Amino acid sequence: MKIVTVLGARPQFIKAAAFSRAIKNYPNIKEVIVHTGQHYDVNMSNVFFDEMDIPTPKYQLHTGGNSHGAMTGQQLEKIEEILILEKPDMVLVYGDTNSTLAGALAAIKLHIPLAHVEAGLRSFNRRMPEEINRILTDQISSYLFVPSLGSKQNLLNEGIDANKIFVVGDIMYDVSLYYKEKMVKPTWFDNLKLKEFILCTIHRAENTDDAYKLKEIFEGLATSEKSIILPLHPRTLKKIKDYNLSIPSNIYVVDPIGYLEMVWLEVHCDLVVTDSGGVQKEAYFHNKQCVTLREETEWVELVEAGLNRLVGHEAKKIQEALVSVNFKDGNNNIYGAGDAAKKILDILEVYK
Ligand code: UD1
Ligand code: UDP
Repeated sequence: MKIVTVLGARPQFIKAAAFSRAIKNYPNIKEVIVHTGQHYDVNMSNVFFDEMDIPTPKYQLHTGGNSHGAMTGQQLEKIEEILILEKPDMVLVYGDTNSTLAGALAAIKLHIPLAHVEAGLRSFNRRMPEEINRILTDQISSYLFVPSLGSKQNLLNEGIDANKIFVVGDIMYDVSLYYKEKMVKPTWFDNLKLKEFILCTIHRAENTDDAYKLKEIFEGLATSEKSIILPLHPRTLKKIKDYNLSIPSNIYVVDPIGYLEMVWLEVHCDLVVTDSGGVQKEAYFHNKQCVTLREETEWVELVEAGLNRLVGHEAKKIQEALVSVNFKDGNNNIYGAGDAAKKILDILEVYK
């Protein structure tokens, strides 16, 4: 059986690390990777392939840095050509980026069965580009691999056939467990001489593309008595420059870092503050409290369990959350057992 995997953005490389490692135990399944080039900086792409042993993509496209329509359109056109050439039995996509949707559309138009890993997630905010990408991809998938019963229910509510839905847990938990053993302290960390610190990431369009919101977020973070380490996504860097914002002095900005260093910071920080989907879950996997800079999240189970607090972008709310963090201890079963990749492959192996 031949699978073409389409990926293109940072969180997809990380998910692919688990899948591509597990696939080695399935000699009957051959994977061909297509990288759309949505993310293209060395520290947004190559670093993950190198340090996580992800196989080199057979096809490397160059579609990054464009508007949504242009990017998705270029991806669709080029992926279609590749699928016609490769004639795979199945196309596999991860998550909710433009690369996900382009891979899904290219597959369905050629009548190639589609597998969606991390299906069923919903924020119920249709102004998020990711929400549209998820809904459309799920509607045209043949295999929907969901991380939780809640995400299965979201799909059932949208009329998706229960026989297509498989609860396998979160593939990012597989990755977290495996790489915790291999985490690496960033070389610059000791120079900061920090006893305690908050780890922060910000990149969501809803926060970065509004000068007022981004300014409020930095004002909120500025109130923290603890230092904050902020590996800065290129999108956010660009917006900070465009808006001429100054970074508060308690925030250490670093370039985007590799996954092994990211895990080290997640394991050693005192608190995670983020608008990232993946980082919200990793906070939980490493037993850290999370303050989420969004009004809603797809990962509702963590909020319902009292492990994650949604604060949005207002400085006052962020300030309150930073001083009154008092969450419950986590339990480690919300998103499965860390064997999602194996479960997915066991299902695909018997695919007819
Ligand atoms: C994308 C995904 C988002 C995901 C995020 C992970 C969509 C709609 N959004 O958002 O769901 O959470 O990736 O990080 O697909 N840029 C660079 N170098 C890079 C990558 C990006 O400079 O290597 C800059 C460019 O100016 C680019 C901007 O960041 O235009 C935004 O990149 P894009 O891929 O469009 O969206 P993300 O915000 O990264
Ligand atoms: N990440 C990383 N280096 C960074 C920031 C994030 O390795 O500088 C990892 C993070 O640990 C998680 C993934 O990138 O595994 C999350 O990706 P991102 O926040 O870009 O996207 P999202 O999950 O919100 O779609």
